[in-house]
Amino acid sequence: MQLFIVGIGGKMGRALCESAAALRETVSGGLDKVSAVGHPTFTTAAQVNVPVDAVIDFSRPETLHEVIALCKKLHCPCVLGTTGYSEEDKKKIADLSAIVPVFQSENMSIGVNVMSLLAEKAASLLSGFDIEIIERHHNQKADAPSGTAKLLCRALEKGLDYQPEYHCGREGNAKRQKGEICMHAVRGGTIVGEHEIAFCGNNEVVTLSHAAESRTIFADGAVKAAQWLIGKQPGLYNMRDMLGL
Ligand SMILES: NC(=O)c1ccc[n+]([C@@H]2O[C@H](COP(=O)([O-])OP(=O)(O)OC[C@H]3O[C@@H](n4cnc5c(N)ncnc54)[C@H](O)[C@@H]3O)[C@@H](O)[C@H]2O)c1
Repeated sequence: MQLFIVGIGGKMGRALCESAAALRETVSGGLDKVSAVGHPTFTTAAQVNVPVDAVIDFSRPETLHEVIALCKKLHCPCVLGTTGYSEEDKKKIADLSAIVPVFQSENMSIGVNVMSLLAEKAASLLSGFDIEIIERHHNQKADAPSGTAKLLCRALEKGLDYQPEYHCGREGNAKRQKGEICMHAVRGGTIVGEHEIAFCGNNEVVTLSHAAESRTIFADGAVKAAQWLIGKQPGLYNMRDMLGL
């Protein structure tokens, strides 16, 4: 399969090139503001003149219009790993998925997706427990809270019997209110990604946590998603669909 990587010059772009080689797939080129060593790199979808079976995007939400243009031009499936999309972006992604198969997940690791299932179950069983999320990432991460924290919130909502109110951090006169979920974003050094959900009850705390030790887990997940997407009908797919969770 010929893979085309949007954001090929970035941290995930480099990890994707390594995963593609390990999984015996070819990277035919990529799109980025900076050129990637060893691969033809383009700055717009209109310029792309290499064979492409699937597009994988790990860049920034600002590149979404180029990803959409490319998938429409080549009529090929795409895997979206970028985080921080707006509601308007999500609408555009849904529109694209009516034309080609689209796979989207804020976290392409098996571990976090199993954790999301456990979080849903824990939320349904630990009635009345206060829930807090702590996420830690490297000092170059653009968006906060992380896409994975939002993915975990969606899973928690499925298990809760109330609609939580979300907060990001706490400052000043900010006593905890019943039914809120507060997300805390730590940024520093080279942390690949760590997520913790604390379910705090009277005299006991249950913690679910996941630590990514390498970007390989996300890159392998994305390449496998592209392989899984080939031949699928147009639609919006995610990790739970692929893993059968
Ligand atoms: N879904 C997942 O499993 C997962 C895992 C890790 C990271 N991510 C997300 O993937 C994205 C990329 O992460 P990263 O750590 O590789 O970031 P990065 O900053 O190292 O790389 C991003 C790349 O995109 C390029 N880029 C940005 N804006 C562009 C534009 N307008 N046109 C062309 N190229 C542009 C940059 O030049 C850079 O090379 C982020 O949104 C991050 O949150 C998702």
